[in-house]
Amino acid sequence: MNIILIGFMGSGKTTIGKKLAKRLGYQFVDTDQQIELEQGTTIHQMFTYMGESFFRKLETQLLLRLHHVKNTVISTGGGMVTTESNIELMKKIGTVVYLKMTVEEIWARMKHDQSRPLLQTANPLQTIQHLLQSREQKYLQADFTVNILDGSPQKVVTQIIQSF
Ligand code: S3P
Repeated sequence: MNIILIGFMGSGKTTIGKKLAKRLGYQFVDTDQQIELEQGTTIHQMFTYMGESFFRKLETQLLLRLHHVKNTVISTGGGMVTTESNIELMKKIGTVVYLKMTVEEIWARMKHDQSRPLLQTANPLQTIQHLLQSREQKYLQADFTVNILDGSPQKVVTQIIQSF
C-alpha cells in the first residue's frame, strides 16, 4: 500500500510524511526534494530561471515514474493538484490524504518563509487566501481529509493511521 499526502504549503506534509513512513516501516519520498536532487538545484532557482510550468512538468513526470512503488509514503508539493491529470495519477499510486489547514494556521507558519517562490509577493496573506481558494476543491478530491487541529505531527500521524 502507498499513501500520498497533499495539501497547502506549510501543512507539514514532509514532516508528517517522514514520521508516518517511520511508524509504518514504509519508504519515504518527498517530490520536492526528489526533483531538487535530480535537477541539482532548488525549486526557487527552477521557478526563477525555468519558470513554474517547467517545474509542474517535472512533478507529473515524477508521479509517472512512481507508479510502481510499494509500501511508500509520498509527500507532494502544495501545487501538485494544479496539474489536472495529477490527482488521477496519485490515486493510481495509492490512497491520497489531504492535510487540511485554515488560512490562519497556514499564515502563522508561512509568514516568515522565504523559500516558497509563490509567496514572495507584496501581500503573501492575500496570496495564500487566493491560492487556497482556487485549490481547495482539488485538494478535496483526496480519498480522505485530515483536519490538522493541533500542531503535533505525531498526533496527525495517528489521525491518518486511524482514518484507514
Ligand atoms: C508549491 C509548493 C511547494 C513547492 C513549490 C510550489 C505550491 O511545496 O512545490 O514551491 O505551488 O504550492 P510545499 O507544499 O512542500 O511547500
